Amino acid sequence: MNLELFGAQDGARVALGPESVVLRGLALPHVPALLPEIARITAQSPWRQMHTPGGFVMSAALSNCGALGWTSDRRGYRYSAVDPQTGLPWPAMPAVFLALAREVAEAAGFPGFTPDACLINRYGPQARMSLHQDRNERDLCAPVVSVSLGMSAVFLFGGLQRGDKAARIVLDHGDVAVWGGRDRLRFHGVMAPRGPAHPLLGEQRINFTFRKAG
Ligand code: SIN
Ligand code: FE2
Repeated sequence: MNLELFGAQDGARVALGPESVVLRGLALPHVPALLPEIARITAQSPWRQMHTPGGFVMSAALSNCGALGWTSDRRGYRYSAVDPQTGLPWPAMPAVFLALAREVAEAAGFPGFTPDACLINRYGPQARMSLHQDRNERDLCAPVVSVSLGMSAVFLFGGLQRGDKAARIVLDHGDVAVWGGRDRLRFHGVMAPRGPAHPLLGEQRINFTFRKAG
C-alpha cells in the first residue's frame, strides 16, 4: 500500500490501521516551544550513537527526556532512569512535550495518555531505522506517540510479523503518528531523510516517540 497518495495537507487524517493514524501538521503550532527544549535537553544529555546488542552502531543519534530513557548496548535494550553517558537522571520532560503528547494521543483516540519516557532520535542525511517493534515498555496498553520535525522521511508501517508487507507514508515536519491497542506491536521503521534541507532544522530529521515505559 502506498499511502503517499492520500495527500499531505495539514489537518488530514490518514488511517494506518484500526488503531493507528497519521495526523498531518498537528505538532506545527508547538514547534517554536519545542526547539529550545530540544537544545536544553541535548545540552544536558548529548546526542549519541548507541550500539545494538548485535554489535552494530545505530545510524541515528539519540537522547531522552522523562523519568525513563531508552538505551541500548551490547547487553541489550532497556529503559533506565539514569543516562549511562552522564551518570545523571535524564532531563525532565518539559511541560510542552507532555501537553503535545496528550493532545496528540487524545486526537488519535487514546485519551488520558501519560508518558514517562520520550526518546528523541536525530537522523542525519544517511541515518535510518530498520523495521522493529517497540516492546521494551512495561505498559503495552498505552500507545506510542511519534512527532516528526525537520526533513521529511518515508515511514514504514508493517504488520505484527516481521515479514508482513509494510505501508509507506511520508512524514513531514509537524506530522504525528500514533499506534496503540491492536496496532501497538506493529513493526515499523523509517528510511533516511529525503528532499531539501529544512529551513529551521537544516539537514536533519528529529523524531520524538513518547511511551509509557514504567
Ligand atoms: C522509532 O521507531 O523509534 C522512530 C521512528 C521514526 O523516527 O519515525
Ligand atoms: Fe520504534
